[in-house]
Amino acid sequence: MEQQLILDDALIAKYDQSGPRYTSYPTAVQFHDGFTADDYAQIARDTNASGRPLSLYFHIPFCDTICFYCACNKVATKDRSKGDEYLQRLYREIALQGELFDRSRPVEQLHWGGGTPTFISHAEMRELMRVTGEHFQLLPDDQGEYSIEIDPREATAETVGVLREIGFNRMSLGVQDFDPRVQKAVNRIQSEEETLAVLNAARAEGFRSVSIDLIYGLPHQTRESFENTLERIIDVGPDRLSVFNYAHLPQIFKPQRRIEVNELPPPEVKLEILHMTAAKLAAAGYVYIGMDHFAKPDDELAVAQREGTLYRNFQGYSTHSNCDLVGMGITSIGSVGNCYAQNLKGLDDYYQAIDAGQLAVFRGVRLSKDDELRRDVITRIICNFSLDFSAVEKQWNIDFKDYFGPELEQLAGMVDDGLLEIRGSGIQVLPVGRMLIRNICMVFDAYLKDSKGQRFSKVI
Ligand SMILES: C[S@@+](CC[C@H](N)C(=O)[O-])C[C@H]1O[C@@H](n2cnc3c(N)ncnc32)[C@H](O)[C@@H]1O
Ligand code: SF4
Repeated sequence: MEQQLILDDALIAKYDQSGPRYTSYPTAVQFHDGFTADDYAQIARDTNASGRPLSLYFHIPFCDTICFYCACNKVATKDRSKGDEYLQRLYREIALQGELFDRSRPVEQLHWGGGTPTFISHAEMRELMRVTGEHFQLLPDDQGEYSIEIDPREATAETVGVLREIGFNRMSLGVQDFDPRVQKAVNRIQSEEETLAVLNAARAEGFRSVSIDLIYGLPHQTRESFENTLERIIDVGPDRLSVFNYAHLPQIFKPQRRIEVNELPPPEVKLEILHMTAAKLAAAGYVYIGMDHFAKPDDELAVAQREGTLYRNFQGYSTHSNCDLVGMGITSIGSVGNCYAQNLKGLDDYYQAIDAGQLAVFRGVRLSKDDELRRDVITRIICNFSLDFSAVEKQWNIDFKDYFGPELEQLAGMVDDGLLEIRGSGIQVLPVGRMLIRNICMVFDAYLKDSKGQRFSKVI
């Protein structure tokens, strides 16, 4: 039973409201342009006193073709020279950011995300890592967690070899669904062979962890069709799996307007798919980490969750809670000291700032003590499915029941529904509450009181 996903349809229906995914708290909705690049630079320099390790995120936005469901920050182009124009600016940003942080601070975590990071050439990949190593202290192989998002249509076995050579030891592969009908409807034609070629190369090259992304709720999907995809994925045994719920928000994500609403599976079919997925992955030995993520029980995420050391940030779940996160490239978000800072979203604006020798931060937020405390509480709950009051009291010098009196009262309804238990010493999320973890976290979110969360996706 431990770490399994148990679904209760009636409770899912009752709690099916929009909500944040808490990759940050406060969420990006609270970022504002009163927070400037200078504020960020000052806070970043101040963190050097801590000597904390660093986590670096690089955003490579380009995609050769656009998948209609996509909600990521991407730029569609077939012109590969765009990669070079972008990288020239990224190198300058790396230098500007590198000046802020002491070289003695090791890069424990590094991630290339997108868009499609493998859009750039092998030579460009080598150069990006070389420039990074000029300005930051990269760790020797396997002492760090260096990961990359790969579109198997944009990578060969040779690409995988290059990535391993320059220091990557983890990857996630975008698959979504193997069904040709689904693939056609979402404009992502990708053969099983392409996917397996990259996965096998990753194993041959000694990647420590391979994760696969699937999406349920796409056009034409049925329980049977998705089961077929899932079985083929289970057969090849990735270390981790992300099974994302497709969020159809065409007013926000333009490519989604090309998806026919009447081809989308209705909520009851999505729920069937989810039941099947939970059962199949449990039978195959995967444990539920939370928020769409599954892992083999010996994977370090699953181990960290059992040991209470799991952490969550913009890259999803990780084991590196002690890092300052430096985001580079358009739209990327950093989490440094007590602030979040986001870079400009458009290529032209980003190029203009960097060409003028400036950081590209255009908004952010400085966390108050209350924000930091609530972030800690939300992170503990979402990662560990439990909360030890005394740990929070000790860290923040508060009396939990005094400080969070109204929140504990609000949780009473969830206790009655069997989502969680509140004992004298803490909160324990029960198996049916795991799927509804964001609803539980939302109780501790001070900013939801006056917004109804329309910008966020739903549970199902
Ligand atoms: C940046 S992409 C991964 C790398 C690469 N671009 C690719 O597609 O293979 C990140 C992942 O987000 C997920 N994703 C994108 N749009 C989504 C949406 N609207 N709903 C749910 N998941 C989505 C997909 O599973 C995708 O693999
Ligand atoms: S899913 Fe990946 S490849 Fe497809 S459009 Fe989004 S970022 Fe690009």
